[in-house]
Amino acid sequence: MKTPLSNNEDRVISPIEKKEDVFDLTLRPKTLTEYVGQDKVKNNLNIAIAAAKKRGEVLEHVLLYGAPGLGKTTLAYIIANEIGSGIKITSGPAIEKGGDLAAILTNLSEGDVLFIDEIHRLNKSIEEILYPAMEDYALDIIIGKGPSAKTLRLDLPHFTIIGATTKASLLSAPLRDRFGLIHHLDFYEAPDIKKIVERSAKILGVKIDERSAEAISRRSRQTPRVANRLLKRVRDYCEVIGCGPIDEETCYKSLLALEIDELGLDWVDRKILEAIINKFAGGPVGINTLAAATGEDMETIEDVYEPYLMQIGFLNRSARGRIATNLAYKHLGFKPQGQEKLLD
Ligand SMILES: Nc1ncnc2c1ncn2[C@@H]1O[C@H](COP(=O)(O)OP(=O)(O)OP(=O)(O)O)[C@@H](O)[C@H]1O
Ligand SMILES: [Mg+2]
Repeated sequence: MKTPLSNNEDRVISPIEKKEDVFDLTLRPKTLTEYVGQDKVKNNLNIAIAAAKKRGEVLEHVLLYGAPGLGKTTLAYIIANEIGSGIKITSGPAIEKGGDLAAILTNLSEGDVLFIDEIHRLNKSIEEILYPAMEDYALDIIIGKGPSAKTLRLDLPHFTIIGATTKASLLSAPLRDRFGLIHHLDFYEAPDIKKIVERSAKILGVKIDERSAEAISRRSRQTPRVANRLLKRVRDYCEVIGCGPIDEETCYKSLLALEIDELGLDWVDRKILEAIINKFAGGPVGINTLAAATGEDMETIEDVYEPYLMQIGFLNRSARGRIATNLAYKHLGFKPQGQEKLLD
């Protein structure tokens, strides 16, 4: 695969997890009450958890999907915590062979949560082992080969699978159907991101005024992971250049130094939009062509950049390709499409 020109580690506003985020467990909420926003999801989960507890049953399998950095992994840990059960972590690409999955399943204890990240990347043969495990808490083992092969059924403890994915459309229908609770995490509302910035500042022990919290949240791409990362960069800047607490003036200076505009776009977003506008007359342009024209990886454009650009109405997807909207034209300082005609 071609190495893209931009590097995830270099982009402050990348929603993809970076090395610096991995150890950032202090900022992660531990209970549903601490988890900011996503009220519909929280209410539904609260009821499902309470009902399962009341009946003395395990929680139904949960599928969480949504763009990177919106809180899927966090929510999985919270669910296990709220149920009061243990959690084992794995991911779609980590389970290569049937034996890997069998080892994981047979090591679960009654009531455990098994978190499978990137569940859309499970291969077909593993999925098939998972079906009876999810439905009947059973593992079918085939012994021998050819006509003398026999199937042996092993009982498993009762458990809950929490699957997370950024690409629900890639999940096979039979797998999706085996989840009793399916929840979509949306981009966050501005007041919720601001709450997250203020909550994180409190945990980090740094004072922040209201305007600065707003300025950071506006640039956070409606994504908690980005909000936390920006907050930490601004905090560092204010500690070194300013006088300690985050004040409006130093906050703006640091955001300027980070080269992120007031909507949270950086040079890669601008490069993608400008390519569509300048090289392809605003589109539609196919994703392959766009990737070649920008030097970025096609999947990264689809998974990382596009969701937010679509969310803020700068980019549309059509069957024929990507289209830059008039909002994007205006934001980047181009004359909106068709305006010349309107003015004539
Ligand atoms: N609702 C929330 N309230 C407060 N903080 C949050 C919330 N959701 C996420 N966060 C913060 O954002 C960070 C990123 O969230 P998380 O790792 O759960 O995202 P994710 O959806 O699993 O991302 P990915 O798709 O990359 O795996 C967390 O470490 C946590 O600090
Ligand atoms: Mg995650």
